[in-house]
Amino acid sequence: MSEVGAAAGSKKTPEKDAILPQKDLTHLFKAKSVAIVGASANPDKIGHQILRNLIEGGFEGDIYPINPKEKTILEKDAYPSVTDVPNFIDLVVISVNANFVMPVLKECVEKGVKHVIVITSGFSEVGNAREEQEIKDIADQFNISLVGPNTLGVVYPPNKMNTSFGPRDVILGKIAFISQSGALAIALMGWTKMEKIGLAALVSVGNKCDIGEEELISYFNEDENVDVITIYMEGIKDGRKFMQTAIKKPVVVLKVGRSQRGARAAASHTGSLAGSDQIYNAAFKQLGVLRAQSFTEAFGWARCLSLPAPDGNDTIIITNGGGIGVRTTDECVAAGIKLFDDPDWLEEKFRETMPSFGCTKNPVDITGQAPADAYQKATRIALEEDRIKAVLVLYCETVITNPLKIARSIAGEYKKSGSKKPLLVAMVGGERTREALHYLNHENIPAFDSISEVVDGLKVLYKWQEYKERKLDKPDIKPPPQEVLDIINNAKKEGKKILLEHEARKILELCGVTTPKWGYARNLEEALEIAKGMYPFAMKIVSPEIVHKTDVGGVVLNVRNEEGLKLRYNTMINHIKEVMPAAKIEGVNLIQMVKGIECIVGLSRDPQFGPAVMFGLGGVFVEVMKDVAFRIVPFGKVEATRLIHDVKGNKILDGFRGIVANKPSIIQSLLAIQRLAPYVQECDINPLISNEFGSFAVDARIILE
Ligand code: COA
Repeated sequence: MSEVGAAAGSKKTPEKDAILPQKDLTHLFKAKSVAIVGASANPDKIGHQILRNLIEGGFEGDIYPINPKEKTILEKDAYPSVTDVPNFIDLVVISVNANFVMPVLKECVEKGVKHVIVITSGFSEVGNAREEQEIKDIADQFNISLVGPNTLGVVYPPNKMNTSFGPRDVILGKIAFISQSGALAIALMGWTKMEKIGLAALVSVGNKCDIGEEELISYFNEDENVDVITIYMEGIKDGRKFMQTAIKKPVVVLKVGRSQRGARAAASHTGSLAGSDQIYNAAFKQLGVLRAQSFTEAFGWARCLSLPAPDGNDTIIITNGGGIGVRTTDECVAAGIKLFDDPDWLEEKFRETMPSFGCTKNPVDITGQAPADAYQKATRIALEEDRIKAVLVLYCETVITNPLKIARSIAGEYKKSGSKKPLLVAMVGGERTREALHYLNHENIPAFDSISEVVDGLKVLYKWQEYKERKLDKPDIKPPPQEVLDIINNAKKEGKKILLEHEARKILELCGVTTPKWGYARNLEEALEIAKGMYPFAMKIVSPEIVHKTDVGGVVLNVRNEEGLKLRYNTMINHIKEVMPAAKIEGVNLIQMVKGIECIVGLSRDPQFGPAVMFGLGGVFVEVMKDVAFRIVPFGKVEATRLIHDVKGNKILDGFRGIVANKPSIIQSLLAIQRLAPYVQECDINPLISNEFGSFAVDARIILE
């Protein structure tokens, strides 16, 4: 993290702001002994259900119910306290009233326990933040990893460990699921079972006072039992920490709560466009996290992401229906997925898999009467050919075919091939087809009942591949020169909250943003002097009282000669004196007219992620279409290039009405504005006009607080 990003975070003390080393979570998941404090003989108690889940889930380690009144519970020896257990305990699950959590935690410290799950509610979610901080402090002091409070628990099928009070049976798979909502985690445990989706882990993070998404992603990055991480997220606690998480395996996030913070009154244009959802989008893109829009999408993607990554772009479609073949082709083309194309080879290889009226072109149509062995042969040919990098198999239910048999033959071939390339299936039909889909999913072959989902699944595999292979960004944002700090400090001393336009432009210039020729004149004489060699230019009034200059006639464009300057200067000053007699006129700014493509560059501040930079095209693109994108500070050239690309209208920059933008200088501006991040609240360069010679900050606005 560069100086800029570090200084620009929240207002915590340096010690609190420091990111502690990652706690080792190995025995949270791979615990060999678990104690449940609050285990009860009463089946209506949560502690009883957790104990039962652990036992009936087949946990093979030691289980210690902790209850001061009972000798045995569910045939397990019970102990009055964790300190009475004669052996070492890896993990303690606390399910007692909130008042007793702290004393129990202290007993865990005494016992040397390093992993604790606090099921108990009644902490920060109901306003008891101090009590929550106290347990967090103990956890940090004694290097305990603490999940919760207010959690459903942790389920880790590879260790047959279910410490939750949710459903008992979970299918073992390769997807780790992190949920900020316990209720939803319960619901999804049932749903994944029904849909035959296997899980490697389920963590209900609760209030995440200690262990949150960042620690879990880091752990699962190295966990051989996990291929993909899915997260249901309501919000991030510490954006800066999140941005430092390494993404080594695919992470799919379903982030809810898309409300626009931008609706608040913001002093700058950038501020009003920087809704929290836009910032989350930026953070996810920057990190390489995939954002899904629904649960089915998130888990659909996760299943696909468990497949091997495609080693190139050529995809083949095998189908028994012309219609779905064509539709899938259309969707592939729209998604940018390239279809394998070698007609002679396709004819030679696939002809034997179909009747004479079948079609060997890609999509390969083995026809509506294709039985399981036709699917088997066609799948084998596709899997054996090195030039084919991904396989989509489609099926429409017909009365003469058996979907389950077909599913079995496809799965059999896939296994035989060593499952080296992605194979995805879409089967459309009724009850019998549903059974076939479940079978395939159970066999870890992503299978969907719609074409869009299967194409989307392949698309996301390519997206992940792109994330994995993309160039690393190396932010190196230097602090601004002292002169910038002097201007800012002087303005603050004078009680200014918004800098005057020429002060803002000067600051940006000093940070490395190019400006057009410009000058500040206190009177007409000075203006006439400065204007030499600058015609044509725009003239703008300088007055701390005038924020909206155009509204009071404080802006004139295209001043072409001395005559014009004298006339328009006097008209402007007289008019303003008339309409705003109280305004103190400090002079005028003269800014050379620049032609080019109008862009907007801005800096704003997000409560979770800190400073963020915005880029967009100016005029109607920003005003009406709000076609802007963001990146979290700090970022370097690579990410700045991607930021420009994120804007839908970015092609305009490559040439529009004979004008081409200068991308390197836009990138330079995106880097330069970051130098101000620790010192200002918001900044707008609007417009930044870009042409073949460079990009020029024509107007600028800096808000100090
Ligand atoms: N050590 C060991 N056992 C203790 C104890 C202690 N310090 N203090 C109490 N116990 C025993 C109790 O005697 C009781 O046993 P019993 O049934 O034999 O009498 C058992 O532990 C449970 O304690 P109890 O006071 O009855 O609590 P409870 O089970 O009714 O509720 C919680 C405890 C944690 C479940 C409850 O406070 C809570 O927070 N519920 C919400 C949980 C939740 O929704 N989490 C979020 C999910 S998303």
